[in-house]
Amino acid sequence: MYLYPKWIRAWHVLNAILFIILIVTGLSMQYTGKKDYVLVVGFETAVRWHNISAIILTINYIIFVLGNFITKNGRYYTIKRDSFLSDLIKQMRYYAWGMFHGEKHPFPVTMERKFNPLQKISYVIVMYLAVPLVIISGVGLLFPEIVAKGFLGVSGMILTDLLHITMGFVLSVFIVIHVYTCTLGKKPTSLFRGMITGYHATEDHYDLED
Ligand code: HEM
Repeated sequence: MYLYPKWIRAWHVLNAILFIILIVTGLSMQYTGKKDYVLVVGFETAVRWHNISAIILTINYIIFVLGNFITKNGRYYTIKRDSFLSDLIKQMRYYAWGMFHGEKHPFPVTMERKFNPLQKISYVIVMYLAVPLVIISGVGLLFPEIVAKGFLGVSGMILTDLLHITMGFVLSVFIVIHVYTCTLGKKPTSLFRGMITGYHATEDHYDLED
């Protein structure tokens, strides 16, 4: 099944590389001391690379949103309320218990259903909430003059910084879980191969025909 069109693959590979650079340079900024201690790269280099990567990531993000709006890929990101919660619980139960006991996947991949409920909710939260928040707070840190002086007695810059760091942490945790769940195809490499070739192997149907 051809599930990952060229533009999604190009967006995704650039996005993944930029995220890794942003995490490494973000941590370097946080933990590199002014004088002797250096974590991966020095402070000045970290700031420069962080800013450049963030600008490219923002442009790439706009391409993702527009692409989902213009092409049919956007339909995979819509959530219908009716049975979503019970489906989500089914999927969590499968990941926590079922898959270790030889159960079949509760939501096999089809052309109409690229993501299982847990993938769907996490991709929607990450792409339409966490990434926008990290970008908006990042813009605030890059242009402090546009940030409100204060809110409820707390400095606007501190709140912006807090939001940026919290979202950066949430997204870093997401990547670890995301890469782990991407190993849960029929073979550990199947889903990664799909993201490179564009094709989700039919063997990943989890014996749909049975
Ligand atoms: C080392 C980094 C990463 C690897 C190896 C990786 C791997 C993958 C793989 C194999 C898929 C296809 C399977 C699936 O649809 O679930 C995928 C899809 C996806 N990944 Fe990642 N990923 C990485 C980083 C990221 C990051 C940083 C984000 C967002 C912040 C992200 C967001 C997504 C989204 C939204 C999809 C679905 C795209 C679509 O088909 O519409 N990934 N990823």
